[in-house]
Order: sequence, then structure tokens, then C-alpha cells
Amino acid sequence: MSTQFSIYFHSLENKEYLQQIIEASGTGKLAESHDLAHLPSQAVNGIDVVFLEYQENNPELDHWIERVVANPGSPAIFLYFKEISTNNLWKAIRLGAKECFTFPIQEEDFKQAVQRILARTEVRKSPAKPTQIISFLGCKGGIGTSFLVANLAGLLAQERRGKVLVVDLDLGFGQLNYFFDVHPEHTLAEVIENLERLDNNYLQNIFYTIGENIYLLPAPARLEEAEIINADHLDKIISYLKENLGFRWILIDCCHQLDEITMRALELSESLMLVTAQSIPALSNAKKMLDILSLLGLKELEVEVIVNYWDRQHELSVADVENFLGKTISGTIACDYKQASFSVNEGKLLVETSPRHPISTDLKLIARKFSQEDTLGATNGSGWKWLQRLWSKKKP
Ligand SMILES: Nc1ncnc2c1ncn2[C@@H]1O[C@H](COP(=O)(O)OP(=O)(O)OP(=O)(O)O)[C@@H](O)[C@H]1O
Ligand SMILES: [Mg+2]
Repeated sequence: MSTQFSIYFHSLENKEYLQQIIEASGTGKLAESHDLAHLPSQAVNGIDVVFLEYQENNPELDHWIERVVANPGSPAIFLYFKEISTNNLWKAIRLGAKECFTFPIQEEDFKQAVQRILARTEVRKSPAKPTQIISFLGCKGGIGTSFLVANLAGLLAQERRGKVLVVDLDLGFGQLNYFFDVHPEHTLAEVIENLERLDNNYLQNIFYTIGENIYLLPAPARLEEAEIINADHLDKIISYLKENLGFRWILIDCCHQLDEITMRALELSESLMLVTAQSIPALSNAKKMLDILSLLGLKELEVEVIVNYWDRQHELSVADVENFLGKTISGTIACDYKQASFSVNEGKLLVETSPRHPISTDLKLIARKFSQEDTLGATNGSGWKWLQRLWSKKKP
């Protein structure tokens, strides 16, 4: 660690004490020290932590601290109090100090405080990756769209590369909460009622936290609530989520309707995963949807096809399916009715309970595509080529 410290002191004795704490902690280097009578107009650039001996009844000092804290690129302020009291703690909070200490300072406490600052600085330094919106649309009801969305979201969250939000856009009959076995209190319907006061705190209270890095925005609980939602409402919410909440991925379960609401979701998405199966009815629906999507000319949208319930022994091969659709398939997901239905009924993601199951292995390839694109910082399909290579090796 190479944290740069500066000390501002009232008594020489305390200056030496604070200096000794910094040195003993091995967390960084003391770059400068000044007495409080010589506060510079600004904290010096390149300093990470200002360690300051707090002096009571010194409004100029309070003002100086507030000024430094108000500057977004400013160092963190650690306050040292001769004695800690509730008043002093309140004071430290109001002034915006990051940590406060009193005698004797425990080395471990100090180290941890510096680590917290370093973590925050790292977050500040690494620019947030843009949110990637991936919509999933089934070619038929019951084709496994929600199952795939839930499990892919679980895989992306496991990667710990960013937060994942799952949006249940099966407005009338959304069931994603069952796949995670959660019972959310709030739903999309409430967000619609409060469209004029969307803010981060409000929305964070609405999302259901499923686990580390994974959140759910559930579909309305009642049919009549679903009916009042229109495409403009959705546009407003999704655009806000995309710009303001810092999600790395938003996965939208669009159910199997290519209606006005789904269309709006697609306009806001980077990718569409069209879910079909190895049967003529499912494939002919997929073909119809591909044709409509191509007529609509959503230029920014990358359309991919996933074939669920894949059976290697089936008479239709990958080549047959691709010929029929006139499009390369982006992935197949193995079929196992027993395990899939067991995981759904238990409310436990298959990718978590059985990470080596063929369904999980197939899903990992798809999840890797999303994180690969994320690493490349591109959503124009350039990150997709490696998956095509892997996929072509896998083709029977
Ligand atoms: N690869 C698979 N192998 C076997 N069974 C599967 C597979 N994928 C999904 N299923 C089963 O299909 C059932 C229906 O899946 P799911 O609810 O995801 O369909 P859906 O397309 O979202 O349906 P709807 O269009 O009605 O929302 C699941 O409960 C699961 O048991
Ligand atoms: Mg569904």
C-alpha cells in the first residue's frame, strides 16, 4: 500500500504520536505535516488521507474541513480527538470526516480504516462500465425463458464483476420470484405510480435483494395493475435504471409476446436472446419473430438465438435448425425435465445447486459471452466471435 498522508496538528506531542501510528501501520507514507495555525487554502494534491488533530471551538478549522470534504477529488479526513464523546462523534459526522480516533489508537483499527479508504479510491478510479441490457423473448409459452433468465442472472452475479438486475416483464403472470424462492414486497406497479419521483434511494428500496450482486424488479402482483402499464412508462423506468443505478447487467424477461411493451424494451436493449426449441412449431415461431425483427430494423440490437431443451439424439441437427432459421445459433441448452423442474419447484437455481450439470455448463457459455463483451467494453458483437468458435467445436 502506498497511501499518502498529511498531518495537521495542534500540539507537537500529538504530531509525533500520529506520525508514529502511520509508520507503525505500514499503510503508507507521511508526505507532509503542518500545525493548525498554517492550514493551506486547499489540501495538497496527491494526498489520500489528512490526519488532523481536532481542536474544539475553532470555527475556521471546521470551515476548512467542510471545504475540503465538499471537493469531490479531495483526500479523506481522519479526525483525532483528545477524548471521544457523543458530541465529538456528531461533530465528526456533520463535518464529513471519514474516520475518527482517540487515544490510544489500535493499530488494527487504523489499518482497516485506511483499507476502507483505499477501496473507495479504487472504485472512484475505475470508471463504471456502462449497463448492458439483455432482453429474453420466448418464441412460445413455456419454452424456458424465465428459467434461463434466472439461471443466467445467477451465473453473472457469481462472477462478482458487477450488479445484476432482473426485470420481470411478464406483466400479467410474472413468476421470476418463484425461481429464486423470494417474496418481494414491492413491484414494478409501484414504480409506475411514482414515475415522477424516481431516484436512486427510492428504487433501491423497491428492488428485492436476492443475494450478493443480484436484484429483482418483480412484475405486478395483480392483473389489473399490469394493465395500466404502457410502453412510455417502461421507457422511463428502463432508461433511468440504465443511466443511474450502476448495474453491470439488466436482464429483462419479456415473456413470449412481441407487443408494444416488449418492443420498447428491445429498443433500449443491446442484445435480444430469442429462446426457441428443437421442434417445428417452436422453430417456425422463431422464424416469424426473426422476420418481424428484421423488418423493424432495430439497428442497435444484436439478435441471438438460443435453442432450449436440446437433445443431441434428435433428428434435427444444429445445421438443420440453422438452415431452417437462416441464422447461426448462438447456443443450445441441454434438456433435463426432472432436474430443471426440481430446481424450479425448490426455488434453487440449477447453476448453484448443480454447477456441473449439462444445463449449467451450457448456460456458462452464454454467461461468458456477456462478461466477455463487458471486458471488451463493446456491445457490437466483437466479443461474440470467441463463443462462435467454442460453439462450432461443440456442434455434433
Ligand atoms: N432445458 C430444460 N430442460 C428441461 N426442462 C426445462 C428446461 N428449461 C426449462 N425447463 C422447464 O420448463 C418449465 C417452464 O419454464 P419457464 O417458466 O422458464 O418457461 P417460460 O418460457 O418462461 O414460460 P412463459 O412463457 O409462460 O413465461 C420450467 O419450470 C422448467 O422446469
Ligand atoms: Mg416466463
